[in-house]
Amino acid sequence: MSWFKRLFAPTPPVRPVLSAPARQPLAQGSAPGGQAGRTAAPPPASPKIRQGHTFDALTDPRRRRVSINFNSTQPVQNRRDLYGRAEKLEALFDAVVLREQHALIYGARGSGKTSLVRVFADYADQQGLVIIYTACEPQQSFAQLLKPYLQTIPRSCITEGRDVLFRDALRNLSDNLTPRNAVDFLEEFTTRRLIFIFDEFDRILGREVRLEFASFLKLLADALLPVQAVLVGIGGNLADLITDHPSLRRHLTAIPIGRISASAVQEMIDVGAEQAGLPFDAASKELIASLACGSPYHVRLFCAQAGLQTLRRGRDTVTSTDALAGILAATEDWALMSDEDAAIFRYLAEKNAALHHALAHVARSAAMLDAVSMPHIVRELPGGQAEQAIQAFGPALQRRDDGQYVFRDSGAPQFFLALLLTHTPSRADTPDNVIPLSETTRLGHVV
Ligand SMILES: Nc1ncnc2c1ncn2[C@@H]1O[C@H](COP(=O)(O)OP(=O)(O)O)[C@@H](O)[C@H]1O
Ligand SMILES: [Mg+2]
Repeated sequence: MSWFKRLFAPTPPVRPVLSAPARQPLAQGSAPGGQAGRTAAPPPASPKIRQGHTFDALTDPRRRRVSINFNSTQPVQNRRDLYGRAEKLEALFDAVVLREQHALIYGARGSGKTSLVRVFADYADQQGLVIIYTACEPQQSFAQLLKPYLQTIPRSCITEGRDVLFRDALRNLSDNLTPRNAVDFLEEFTTRRLIFIFDEFDRILGREVRLEFASFLKLLADALLPVQAVLVGIGGNLADLITDHPSLRRHLTAIPIGRISASAVQEMIDVGAEQAGLPFDAASKELIASLACGSPYHVRLFCAQAGLQTLRRGRDTVTSTDALAGILAATEDWALMSDEDAAIFRYLAEKNAALHHALAHVARSAAMLDAVSMPHIVRELPGGQAEQAIQAFGPALQRRDDGQYVFRDSGAPQFFLALLLTHTPSRADTPDNVIPLSETTRLGHVV
């Protein structure tokens, strides 16, 4: 039986309500054991007026420090705050800046793609490159996608003496701008190296637009223009770009972002905790790291919530109980925005105890590797459980064209693992549903 089970099996903790630390002074004259002496005055009646200190926790300055240092809503802005990404940063820099290739960065929601490209942009900027970044919108045509980039090219990039012509050409850009027009435009007016970053590229759903985009990248490379594109998005469907346009392959470096290492997670928690002035004990760190599965977003989210729960309870160290309460609070927040998946997950966590181990295995594989490979999990799980578990997730888990399974919300499997913790079966012989951090490498991947 894992320590998680021993710790949490008896009573699933509920989300605590906002309350002040228990500050009950001993009644005057009372004995240390709580027994009032014979001469003790009767305990004072409970006060009729509300005590101001009830909301002390709200104004604790550490609350803000916890929220800032474990902010999970903003991408990392500077390299000092980017943990565990040295290799990916180098791969991106090598591909785009040194080898002048286009790059494709893909991975789950919250794995840190935007953070990585922001820090990369900072480096590239220092090398004198001009970076233009936007996030794509669904339903955009190729022209709508590209025009803002052309319109944002700074004057310092324009061939000398061609400013006026450039501005005229910009004004006359057609709404039917084609990949060829765009490349001609860049060839005619720009001199300096440009890097266009297309974040959330997966939101471009139209296959037609993706194909046009692929030919734009190919034409840029063929024209030997010093303009590179970095495409950023979730999931393998970005690979369609290459499948549909095989000749693009040699001009494009694919960078699966994966997860950050266990030591990077530890460092992230330790530094955040120190800056927030709120230590996390070893068990709380292990619980958070184990459930976050190397996803920086989940690490920060769970740490922030764990920290806030601790302060609400008037304590000075985050314990595993606070961490679990925080993780569950975060899971409830996620469930409010994802009711269909949350209903499936809750159902599976409440019923199906015999399948919990297999379900957790599928969720953990997806959380760590983005996609679940049926042949792999069939080898790892006993008789028929792999198929049953995949089926049990219903529409929350979808089959991709390449035969692998992905959660339709790529950030969801961590929340399923959290929900499972609250429904740990009591039978001692059922397999553990949480794999301690030290063992997570058994899925064949260093977390
Ligand atoms: N390497 C990292 N180190 C520390 N925090 C990170 C890292 N990568 C991402 N984060 C944090 O995780 C959250 C999600 O990151 P983001 O870059 O927006 O992910 P994505 O673009 O993949 O959805 C942000 O709050 C960000 O600050
Ligand atoms: Mg992003």
